[in-house]
Amino acid sequence: MATGWRPGSLTPAEVSDGDSYHRALYLDGDVDRPAGWHKDSVAHLLELAMPHIKQGSLVVDYGAGTGGSAIELLKLTDAANLSIELVLVDPLVSWFGKARELLGHRDDVHFVFSMFTNEEGKPRFHRLEEMLDGRKVDVIISSSTLHLVPTKALPDLGVQFAGSLAEGGVFVWDSGDVDSDMLPADASLLHDPYRAVREHLRDDSARQALLSEMGETDAHQAERRVDRIFPEPFSIDVMLDAFESAGFSSEISDHIVGFSNEDSERFILVPRLSEIAAPLIEGEERDRAVCSAITSVLAKMREAGTASESEYRSHWVYGYHTHD
Ligand SMILES: C[S@@+](CC[C@H](N)C(=O)[O-])C[C@H]1O[C@@H](n2cnc3c(N)ncnc32)[C@H](O)[C@@H]1O
Repeated sequence: MATGWRPGSLTPAEVSDGDSYHRALYLDGDVDRPAGWHKDSVAHLLELAMPHIKQGSLVVDYGAGTGGSAIELLKLTDAANLSIELVLVDPLVSWFGKARELLGHRDDVHFVFSMFTNEEGKPRFHRLEEMLDGRKVDVIISSSTLHLVPTKALPDLGVQFAGSLAEGGVFVWDSGDVDSDMLPADASLLHDPYRAVREHLRDDSARQALLSEMGETDAHQAERRVDRIFPEPFSIDVMLDAFESAGFSSEISDHIVGFSNEDSERFILVPRLSEIAAPLIEGEERDRAVCSAITSVLAKMREAGTASESEYRSHWVYGYHTHD
């Protein structure tokens, strides 16, 4: 049995959110059938991490979500007969609750919930050193998460990672949503289509009618919340500066990962992500608006040469960092 955090009773909406994201990563929720984009994107990350994972290694998955990266890592360590201790860290109850459901039976997995409310009632993150209780880790992986961290928090996150690694430890991450001059003309960032869906729906008349019923301040706040779901991408230099200032050396590589039309529809219909169509009410109306928008966005991407008939090409960047 895993140790650490377990969710209290989840609402039906939270269960459905965790389940939908899991199904965006695994066809019909079957962990033996990863969606092509998930399998391919995380495989390159694990290629970088695996040579550093030995018998008894302590590994952190920072931003573990529903467990997608951890599941793929454990497939490799199990196949290699390596027994490791894997600490999963995440701040989102609905997705992390799903990870607990999927991996809670394993003795070698430990759950740490990273968010708390401070004395002023504001949400804050626990520091990694604190969450690890002073233990030093051999490998930190962070898959598809760092582009969600506010840029001003990155330098200190680098310090936390550096302070948590054992001597000779490595930190590896991937992201499909950072700007870099490596982006080929025939590819896009992972979340570009979903930002385009947001733009497509911005002036949607049903959405605007609901916003106008809300009062100006509430409507403004609701729109800001929606804009934060797929934040504007920042430059990889921001990340590299942050990690290098924490004493890391960096090696960067990249890969193109095909994201099929079916997978992108499943992805954007995850309740937490289809919120980009809010305040359209969750359910059929919102789903219809989102599906129609993603269809036309993908058609435009085909015209622009960043998608084929069956998929769009997402550009993923991989960071590999060592620390003296
Ligand atoms: C796209 S999921 C990736 C999950 C998993 N690593 C995978 O590959 O499937 C990103 C995760 O980052 C977490 N996250 C979002 N903002 C974060 C932040 N500022 N700091 C740490 N984690 C964050 C979310 O809760 C979410 O579970």
